[in-house]
Amino acid sequence: MTRVFSGIKPTGHLTLGNYLGAMRQWATVDQYRADALFCIVDLHALTVDHDPARVRRLSRQAATLLLASGLDPERCTMFVQSHVDEHARLSYLLECVATDGEMRRMIQYKEKAARERRRGGSVRLSLLTYPVLMAADILAYGADEVPVGNDQTQHVELARDLAVRFNQRYGHTFVVPRATNPAVAARVMNLQDPVSKMGKSDDTGPGIVYLLDEPDVVRKKVMRAVTDSGSEVVYDRESRPGLANLLEILAACTGGEPAELAASYDGYGALKRDTADAVIEVLRPLRKRHQELCADPGHLEAVLREGAERARGMARPTVDAAYRAIGLLPAS
Ligand code: TYM
Repeated sequence: MTRVFSGIKPTGHLTLGNYLGAMRQWATVDQYRADALFCIVDLHALTVDHDPARVRRLSRQAATLLLASGLDPERCTMFVQSHVDEHARLSYLLECVATDGEMRRMIQYKEKAARERRRGGSVRLSLLTYPVLMAADILAYGADEVPVGNDQTQHVELARDLAVRFNQRYGHTFVVPRATNPAVAARVMNLQDPVSKMGKSDDTGPGIVYLLDEPDVVRKKVMRAVTDSGSEVVYDRESRPGLANLLEILAACTGGEPAELAASYDGYGALKRDTADAVIEVLRPLRKRHQELCADPGHLEAVLREGAERARGMARPTVDAAYRAIGLLPAS
């Protein structure tokens, strides 16, 4: 059976981008067709300036939202990264296979390091080595597929490179994984700045639809989305990014095709209204279920405890094999 692994980082409130680009696929497709693991990658949240209490709160919230989105702990394994030591153990070995040049070429490193410096902060070493820990997440479980939005493709390619290199040097140990992206909404853009990704750790609140936004807030954000000059509704990512983003969001929420949808509108107003309605409808059950789950925190704890136990059992043999293969003396 195909093994699927993916993760989500508790660095901010989860967004429509997270949902359409990744979570929805996990809940509606992946957990039914594959042996799937989904991880709240809290160690990754420590790579930029962070508040400990907030990371804890966001980790719980992300886990609750994963359940609310439809992940079924009977079908998939859902857990928190720091509860399974194998991630950090394997990450060190992979640091001995990766190069600093590879790390410095990562687009997200360049962007995030520049942002930290602009804010007057220093860049944590863990931000540079982030993709190695991410590779460890994936390789520890022998994942064949990694369903992600397209901002993560470069990181998954690095995980492939490291798996191949390790296998060549030290003998076959890792499955070589590949990234998969959703057909639409693999990159949902910021509504106020449609050439930038809708990212949960950005500061541009009005351009980001959060999964727990009230319906009237969602409507306001969509109605105020930046559109491009011109009045004709056409689907063209290059010259009309604002419009293209709305059409893709609408398509992802209704199951249509962006270009076909464009042909059915002759003005921006109706397109925005329909997009707002569609997003509100997609988020409605999720918000409701989230509320119910918040009333029963014991359930979440049990899910995460069992998930971590299962995950440990899956990761340990592979990580132990990697320790032996690379030349470390077994403990006894
Ligand atoms: P993160 O937490 O930024 O995002 C979680 C998932 O949501 C997708 N995503 C988007 N998709 C479409 N449009 C957007 N605007 C958008 N924003 C986010 C991401 O592509 C991702 O699939 N490094 C990862 C977390 C991670 C991971 C892993 C993922 C750590 N280890 C191992 C897969 C496998 C990250 O920061 O995702």
